[in-house]
Amino acid sequence: MSRPESLSDLARAVRENAYAPYSHFKVGAALRTPSGKTYTGCNVENVAYPEGTCAEAGAIAAMVADGETEIAEAYVIADSPHPVPPCGGCRQKLAEFAKSGAQVTLATIDGAELITKVGDLLPGAFGRDHMETETGGDA
Ligand code: THU
Repeated sequence: MSRPESLSDLARAVRENAYAPYSHFKVGAALRTPSGKTYTGCNVENVAYPEGTCAEAGAIAAMVADGETEIAEAYVIADSPHPVPPCGGCRQKLAEFAKSGAQVTLATIDGAELITKVGDLLPGAFGRDHMETETGGDA
C-alpha cells in the first residue's frame, strides 16, 4: 500500500474535486518541493471554454501562493486509457519551476504509471537564457 500523503494519493484524492462539467475529464495534480511541502490542484472548467484551468496550473498556483517556487517532483492522474500527458501549456508551466531532471509521474486511475522528466516533456524549452541579449531584449 502507498504511504499516506504520497503524491499519488494526494493527486488521486484532489482529482475527485475537479470541476469538469464540459469535458467530463477530471484531472488531479500533486507537487512536492525540495523542502518536502506538497500542493495539489484539479482542473476547473468554465462555460467560456478557454477560461478553464488545468490541474497542474492549480497546483502550481497553490505552491507559489504559499511562497514556494521549486518543483522537485510532480504527479498527474486522470481516468484515461493511458497515463495522461500534460498539455503543452502545462509543460511550460512545470518547466518554469522545475529543473529539467525533476521527475513527473503520469498516471491513470487504474494504476498505470509512466515516469518521465520535465526536460523530456519539453525538449528545447523556451527559457530565460533566450532573453539574455546585450540590450536585455529592449532593442
Ligand atoms: N487537463 C488538465 O487539467 N491537465 C492536463 O494535463 C491535460 C488536460 C484538463 C483540461 C480540461 O479541463 C480537461 O482536462 C480536458 O482537456
